[in-house]
Amino acid sequence: MLTDAPYLIKKAQKEGYALGAFNIYNLETALGVARAAVALGSPIVMQVSESTIDYAGLKPITHIVSTIAKNEAVSVPVALHLDHGKSFKSVAECIAAGFSSVHIDASLLPFDENVSLTREVVEYAHSKSIWVQGELGAIPGGHGDIGAKSEELPLVDPDQVEQFVKKTNVDSLAVAIGTAHGIFKNERIHFDLLAEVRKKTDIPLVLHGASGVPDNQIKKAIKMGINKINIGTAIKVAFSNAIKEAAKKNPNITDVRELLTPGIEAVQKVVERKLKLFGSVGKK
Ligand code: 13P
Repeated sequence: MLTDAPYLIKKAQKEGYALGAFNIYNLETALGVARAAVALGSPIVMQVSESTIDYAGLKPITHIVSTIAKNEAVSVPVALHLDHGKSFKSVAECIAAGFSSVHIDASLLPFDENVSLTREVVEYAHSKSIWVQGELGAIPGGHGDIGAKSEELPLVDPDQVEQFVKKTNVDSLAVAIGTAHGIFKNERIHFDLLAEVRKKTDIPLVLHGASGVPDNQIKKAIKMGINKINIGTAIKVAFSNAIKEAAKKNPNITDVRELLTPGIEAVQKVVERKLKLFGSVGKK
């Protein structure tokens, strides 16, 4: 069922697990994510980025998620979230389309400009009862890179956290603590930094770029107060590898359903693994 994000993330924060937030790109990846959540009785966030909206169209992708949430996934709570909204316009369009929460990512702007755009979005979103995630310390990547090595992963300045939350009134916060979008060789959560940030605010904290982070670090991060974890690249990799394999096995394949079904199954499998890791099984 389609649910408000605040309820889900507050429950995760109270009960000490992380809400899994999975990027979906099309019908098939959405089905894989939904089936995993249903199989394990887990609440989930299905999130879409602006590039997915450009690819699929805002209305089609909104309807795919909300229809799946109301039917196939009616037994579990599903929130629909905008991932890395870059402008007020983009956020406003997603809210109008029926998203349950939004992320305004102005983290590449100077601090004061980040504050002012985030505050503008928060004021508007709160007037429509929509939750907002802000971002501090720009988390790099975004194209599902694997195996690459980003020389210097940016980190949040913990001294900015308290002021940012106070000035923007944001509901949750993504912080750069050593991860990148994609699967990079040098990803490592800076736990000292996470501890410092956690002390500065009690709003839910979000970990981006989690596909490349080892399981033991994810578990520790949850214990230290990460409440929502974003997974994108692991879904892209599982889906594309499975359909490449299907095409290799049968190069004459023409039935697109036959070609794409292994992709749905592979996504379900990877998402089930993550939900178990995040501790959200049975928390519906
Ligand atoms: P990964 O691609 O590393 O899983 O990160 C996804 C993400 O953080 C989306 O915002």
